[in-house]
Amino acid sequence: MFAGVPEADALVHLAAGELRVRGRLADASNATLYSVVASGGAELACVYKPVAGERPLWDFPDDTLARREVASYAVSAATGWDVVPPTVLRDGPLGPGSVQLWLQAPPEEAAGPAELEELVEVDGFDGAADDGALDAADEGADDDQDADHDDRDDRDDHVVVLPQPGAGLVDITTPRELPPGWLPVLHAEDYSGRPVVLAHADDPRLRRIAVLDAVLNNADRKGGHVLPGWGGAVHGVDHGLTFHAEPKLRTVLWGWGGEALDEHERDVLERLRGDLGERLGEVLTDLLSVEEAVATLERVERLLRTGRLPRPRGQRTIPWPPF
Ligand SMILES: Nc1ncnc2c1ncn2[C@@H]1O[C@H](COP(=O)(O)OP(=O)(O)O)[C@@H](O)[C@H]1O
Ligand SMILES: [Mg+2]
Repeated sequence: MFAGVPEADALVHLAAGELRVRGRLADASNATLYSVVASGGAELACVYKPVAGERPLWDFPDDTLARREVASYAVSAATGWDVVPPTVLRDGPLGPGSVQLWLQAPPEEAAGPAELEELVEVDGFDGAADDGALDAADEGADDDQDADHDDRDDRDDHVVVLPQPGAGLVDITTPRELPPGWLPVLHAEDYSGRPVVLAHADDPRLRRIAVLDAVLNNADRKGGHVLPGWGGAVHGVDHGLTFHAEPKLRTVLWGWGGEALDEHERDVLERLRGDLGERLGEVLTDLLSVEEAVATLERVERLLRTGRLPRPRGQRTIPWPPF
């Protein structure tokens, strides 16, 4: 269950509903489009990341981020930990891309309204490969909006309530204000020389995300990519920078680095190892390179061999900015 929606229902609607773009999330680094899938008179909010809106990166092959999002969901689903919201690969008004269930913020943990930019902003987006397709989709989406929302307050179409980044479990604070039991990850100074600390709670829901990230080789676990779910669940989003064949784990969740895996974590990893040799391995090979799928199995085997969560290795081990 994610944000009150059963997983199987979400997958059906995400894959088969009519995808309508509502706007672009203003501070996202790629074309990350707040959208809805409509089917049978119902609408489900989702995040549509068209391949055409992916920003080229030096260390990941072009046009592969949407597939990494879907592969991350497949591995998360196999763990049974409900970290990554249901995500599918499908066609949409801006071409093929990933479509992920939007985590409606639990009312008490909403971060407040965030601006959506007009869809037309996507037009000039770096890495937008096919301007013709984007123009056509812009017009389509505008028509949709005119038809659907004639009588609504215009402003409502351009704001969306974001779940609270960090879910209250990851924060940048001062050493004095660090809640008891929190695990510091980085000590630094702010612009005025005052000490600050990046830290996270010692919380089992967060620790599962850290274990999953070690499997996914997640190169971008920012605090803002940890979101609160319903009924106390904690989820993770933005898994485009995953599955590189070389070690690239970059995360704010280093608090358990080097600690022994517990029995439950080892059981889940054992099961993943089996799944990666069977159906899940095939799913990953369809979405990623064979080398990347093999490297995933090797990371699981290494975790089981060392019996410990990884420690930071190399230079850039914390994503910047960390939120
Ligand atoms: N499935 C989701 N449910 C709710 N909010 C989301 C979801 N996916 C992303 N967001 C919000 O949108 C922001 C931008 O999305 P993200 O996936 O990080 O895009 P980008 O790849 O452009 O950085 C996130 O930081 C988060 O606040
Ligand atoms: Mg992001």
